[in-house]
Amino acid sequence: MISHKLNDTLTLITPGTPAGAVLRSYWQPAALSEELRGERPVVPVRLMGEDLVLFRDQQGELGLIDRHCPHRGADLCFGRLENNGLRCPFHGWHFNRDGQCVEQPGEPEGSKMHTRIKSTAYPVVEKNGIVFAYLGDGAPPEFPALDCFAAPETHVFAFKGLWECNWLQALEVGIDPAHASFLHRFLEDEDASKSYGKQFRDQAEGTEIPMTQLLRDYPRPEITIEDTDYGMRLIALRHLQDGRTHVRVTNQIFPCAISIPMSREMIITQWHVPVDNESCYWYSMFTSFDKPVNKEKMRAQRLAEHELPTYAPIKNRRNNYGYNPQEQQDLTYTGMGMDINVHDQWAVESLGRIQDRTREHLGKTDVGIIRYRKMLRAAIDSLQEKDTGKKMPMTNGVSPASIFGPISNDTITSSSDWRTAFMDSDAERRANCSGWNATLPE
Ligand code: FES
Ligand SMILES: [Fe+2]
Repeated sequence: MISHKLNDTLTLITPGTPAGAVLRSYWQPAALSEELRGERPVVPVRLMGEDLVLFRDQQGELGLIDRHCPHRGADLCFGRLENNGLRCPFHGWHFNRDGQCVEQPGEPEGSKMHTRIKSTAYPVVEKNGIVFAYLGDGAPPEFPALDCFAAPETHVFAFKGLWECNWLQALEVGIDPAHASFLHRFLEDEDASKSYGKQFRDQAEGTEIPMTQLLRDYPRPEITIEDTDYGMRLIALRHLQDGRTHVRVTNQIFPCAISIPMSREMIITQWHVPVDNESCYWYSMFTSFDKPVNKEKMRAQRLAEHELPTYAPIKNRRNNYGYNPQEQQDLTYTGMGMDINVHDQWAVESLGRIQDRTREHLGKTDVGIIRYRKMLRAAIDSLQEKDTGKKMPMTNGVSPASIFGPISNDTITSSSDWRTAFMDSDAERRANCSGWNATLPE
């Protein structure tokens, strides 16, 4: 458990907060590319407590500027999309994608006032279905060469979902390798051939054992954490009765993303991005090492569970997440259906909007969470000491462009050398990838 003060320090992210400064030092997902696909590509974006408007201009370039007009504050989401910018409908002030006011048609002829008016504007870059924004000071960092960015657009599917809670507790479910044995437990195993696009529904690599059975039968993983250039690697070992070991390798990519295996074919890179202090979006990039991703199918699966344009889950706290006590007895651990996103959503939202960590009791399986909080505290101190973030992953002299992968894999081995086993298994999958060069540099 931690103090109220520390809980606030680690969780609050609006402008001027210590954790907010850490998150603003990295590129963060701001919207899905598909949100700009309509006739009028202008969408509101609330990111880390800041209200912004994202638009694509007539040249196809993106702009992300303050949602409120610097004149008298009108909502630019209703702006007129014209002449490579947004024009405020209230008095016609016109802003380009850098936030510069370029025209004030109601001001006296010849007025140069507009040259002194600049709205907040942030750099944006589109990568494989997600628009990333940089809300920090100075020049934005390079992007890491993660698989989800290295793969071609055909092999990556992106989606997002709203969770009604603080970003840190959302992230903490992703670095908790023990919960999968419980929260996502299915009391019956499904045919793996029907598992496309779903997590934990494949068979464990090279075996006939469904992942659901393996997680259910071996609920006490041995967890090892390793510090890495991008954050940390979590290795969960499940020692099987027959002498073999199941190795699950997942990652925390600093500051607010994870990378985890979904199946033999795909991995998931998922950001937990604050909307404000009390809500967040998960943004997932599903990257295939095999065939091009069936985006239509994966999108339809997820749209059946979410409403647009908010991407808010249809099952939520207002309808008890679809909880069914009979199902909880017969079919699932939660009684909340077969979609594991709903399980995770309940698990993070039921802690309260911002979890009161003065009342928690962390156990051995929470080792990843404990380590992550230390990393976040070190990053906060590093920024506050004005050592330019030397203790922060990917700003500490390690070039983001030298960060590949990371390995996110499930494998089973009869060898006690589980490290070689997971590396070999991952290398084999990458070597067999024909759609793009997934091989990791030495
Ligand atoms: S409020 Fe926008 S131009 Fe006046
Ligand atoms: Fe989960």
